[in-house]
Amino acid sequence: MLDLAIQNLNIKGFKIKNILFGNEGTHSTLIYPEIYVFTEERLNPLKLITLKNVLFNLDIEKLKNVKFKKSSTLEILKLISSNFKLETVLKLTEDALRELLNSDGASILLYNEDKNVLNFYITSGGASGSIETIDIPINASIAGECFKKKETLIINDAQKNPLHFKQTDLKAKYKTTNLIATPLFFENNPIGVLEAVNKKDNYYTEEDKYIIELFSSLISNKLMNSKIYNDLSSTVKGFILAVATAIDLRDNYTHTHSKNVSNLAIKIGKILKFNDSFLEELEIAALLHDIGKIGIPDNILNKPSKLTEKEYKIIQSHTIIGAKLLSEIDFLSKNISLGALEHHEKLDGSGYPYNKKNNDISLFGKILAVADIYDALTAKRVYKEPWPKEQVIKMLKNDCPKKFDCVIIEALEKCVID
Ligand SMILES: [Fe+2]
Repeated sequence: MLDLAIQNLNIKGFKIKNILFGNEGTHSTLIYPEIYVFTEERLNPLKLITLKNVLFNLDIEKLKNVKFKKSSTLEILKLISSNFKLETVLKLTEDALRELLNSDGASILLYNEDKNVLNFYITSGGASGSIETIDIPINASIAGECFKKKETLIINDAQKNPLHFKQTDLKAKYKTTNLIATPLFFENNPIGVLEAVNKKDNYYTEEDKYIIELFSSLISNKLMNSKIYNDLSSTVKGFILAVATAIDLRDNYTHTHSKNVSNLAIKIGKILKFNDSFLEELEIAALLHDIGKIGIPDNILNKPSKLTEKEYKIIQSHTIIGAKLLSEIDFLSKNISLGALEHHEKLDGSGYPYNKKNNDISLFGKILAVADIYDALTAKRVYKEPWPKEQVIKMLKNDCPKKFDCVIIEALEKCVID
């Protein structure tokens, strides 16, 4: 949300209790007592309300108390609010926390209900890399105490504290001298602990407490949103895979075709360095690219002898039927229906159903066309033996750039010829 607001409202920075955070802009607006926001243009009332709502969600009370030391903090908050991969965001957040708290290490520990322990989820600096497999007992550790009491603990002489769990230090050959730990919550229930250790040249203070609690509230939201999203996403993906398998089962020759095309398309997408959300959509598009076969009668779909021209036209219509079906599902993006529509199009206009050419074909259509034909040719069918992959690649290379995108063929070659 903050990241959207920053983009949409052209926010340059904030000043909180006279401490500048980000950059000063042309216009400043007082939005809460002692909090100014700097923008490139004057905020109209609607934008002002939007901004207030966004900041309210970020726990304005905690935000007010933080003395932002670095202008980069704005970047960090933007990052936390963005949709980057969870692990990446958390790691960068820990790095930022370490920097802000001048600490040697930072960790996110999550509660493991089965064992009643905390486990390190993401670690940064300090003993990072050697402590991830340790079970931290809830009843015999400072992190556990913080989790149970649901409050921030500042321990400035860890070695003398009876709750200090020494096995972590032993395993990592590390000496924890001081630490600050704060619980992570979801709907008032603790789900883990965020901690920073070994403040350089100093003790942890009340000001550090505000900072770590602000980070905790941001991370908690991110963790749970991501968990809900991942749970939902795996349920939806499971359903889509079931649909894809059902489609393939109708076609006697291609029982794993959709899954194979999906695996291949993702590998191609990764080599071409597309981002996670693009890959996620591509995976769904690939699983569902032949969904239109639902509308093709069995006697035509599985006809053992040569198809008549009319029957071939009917088979070709699976692209249009599929695109129509998918475009009617609100939560699926347009790319997914384009994948179904265009996966038999060719760059020179010799494909079907619309003889589209070059850039009239979407990127999804181009990638799926390559993955689809590669799997069809390398698979064994009743009427043919599988082609060797080298032969298929050679044929596809001969057909680029005439029919297929050469960059995609190159990526395919990297995936399959190792
Ligand atoms: Fe197809």
